[in-house]
Amino acid sequence: MKHFLMCEPRFFEVCYVINPWMEGNLGKVNSKLAQQQWQNLYDIVSGLASVSLIEPVAGLPDMVFTANAGLVRNKEVIISSFRHAERQPEAKFFEKFFASLGYRVRRLKEQTIFEGAGDALFDSQERLWVGSGIRSESQALDGIVDMLNIEACGLELVDPRWYHLDTAFCPLPQGQAIAYKKAFARKSVAALDHAFGANIIWVAEQDARNFACNAIAIGRSVIMHSASAELKFTLKQRGLEVIESDVSEFIKAGGACKCLTLEI
Ligand code: ARG
Repeated sequence: MKHFLMCEPRFFEVCYVINPWMEGNLGKVNSKLAQQQWQNLYDIVSGLASVSLIEPVAGLPDMVFTANAGLVRNKEVIISSFRHAERQPEAKFFEKFFASLGYRVRRLKEQTIFEGAGDALFDSQERLWVGSGIRSESQALDGIVDMLNIEACGLELVDPRWYHLDTAFCPLPQGQAIAYKKAFARKSVAALDHAFGANIIWVAEQDARNFACNAIAIGRSVIMHSASAELKFTLKQRGLEVIESDVSEFIKAGGACKCLTLEI
């Protein structure tokens, strides 16, 4: 059974701007609605997998986005080194949490900027895809490969709206994936096409804007904020069922379903 980490949105708000989605949303989060949306997502995920919680910390509103805690593999975690000062203090709380569960806690050397599972995703073949260009630095890839002794492939992100790899790419079961083309440099699109062939679904702009690529795949279920009829149909033909979970309050901070979880 899969196991995820989530963080209740007790202190969630938009009080700084570190990505384009946050612009114009300062102070605009409806906390009660955010709490309900998060609870609904929690209920869906915990119906399909087990979920652990980390205690939220006052003054760290983005801690709800546990995907950015680090990159987890077996009982090992590479803790994030956040690009922005606003999120940097989160790292020590995530570090403490993983240490208390007996994980081997590591960091990339020379404080290489790396934002965890937001920018590093394993596909169903256990190949790691590492995004860089906007948040994580490209050197993170070599550090991860050395540390975990695994095969990994870098992808270059080029549009600030798709600032983390998980906003524009989601590996799915049986060698499949969904992604949004315009988020990537041309050679990265080619690398994905080469690796996935007909098994990659390139989503339309509207689906990308609705964070369809920020999805949680558990078995045959794919949990996402919202999907067009077309995308639902395409996934259904490939044996996958979309479960929609409205997370509009979190999109005000630039994150959706997948960002709110971390597989551990
Ligand atoms: N406001 C957060 C940030 O800009 C959102 C993080 C979303 N996380 C993700 N894995 N895409 O860092």
